[in-house]
Amino acid sequence: MNFSIKQCSVDDAELYTRHCITHMREKGIGGIYAHPFPTNHKWDEAEFLDKIVKSLSSKPFSPNWSMIWVAVVDGKFVGHVNLKCGGVEAQVHRMRLGIGIENDYRSQGIGKALMDEALSWAKKQTQISWIDLSVFAHNVVARKLYSGLGFKEQGTIQDALRVENEMIDDVQMTLKLSSL
Ligand SMILES: CC(C)(COP(=O)(O)OP(=O)(O)OC[C@H]1O[C@@H](n2cnc3c(N)ncnc32)[C@H](O)[C@@H]1OP(=O)(O)O)[C@@H](O)C(=O)NCCC(=O)NCCS
Repeated sequence: MNFSIKQCSVDDAELYTRHCITHMREKGIGGIYAHPFPTNHKWDEAEFLDKIVKSLSSKPFSPNWSMIWVAVVDGKFVGHVNLKCGGVEAQVHRMRLGIGIENDYRSQGIGKALMDEALSWAKKQTQISWIDLSVFAHNVVARKLYSGLGFKEQGTIQDALRVENEMIDDVQMTLKLSSL
């Protein structure tokens, strides 16, 4: 499949919002939960869009500032990776990573390509020393992807979430960047 990767700007925020909501209504590979939301969660598209616009237009390396890259197929946003600075000034040397590929576009190299793009950008930023993420313990595909890229497991929060009565353990992972 032909796809391209581009950095998402404020002008792309509506298409990005639509992609994220589509993706968050889907389950992960193997029918597992991959987000802390039931598939019938009611999303407020306007509220979601507002948060994205604020985050993309924040001052670089300030609390909650985001960088987002999207994978594009025939003009449609089908996957994303985002890096978001911590929520307070004392945490802006760390960014939190999130990634998601829409169901029909998975297992074709898009996730790995998006991770490579985001990490190659992050490794050049002297302001950022760490990248953090959380992944559900049962999400073996994502955990393998992250550990293959150098993320180290920091610990597991048992019964961290309950989605539709399913108890989910959450694994914390961190990548130390060479700028430290
Ligand atoms: C996990 C996810 C980001 C991976 O992206 P992807 O585009 O599907 O994966 P890629 O094709 O780039 O492959 C990346 C790795 O995952 C492995 N993988 C992909 N699909 C797989 C499958 N169906 N079964 C087993 N391994 C698989 C690949 O083998 C590859 O590993 P390798 O480099 O050792 O060969 C994507 O499937 C996804 O969005 N899943 C649902 C949401 C999710 O889990 N997000 C992460 C939450 S923390």
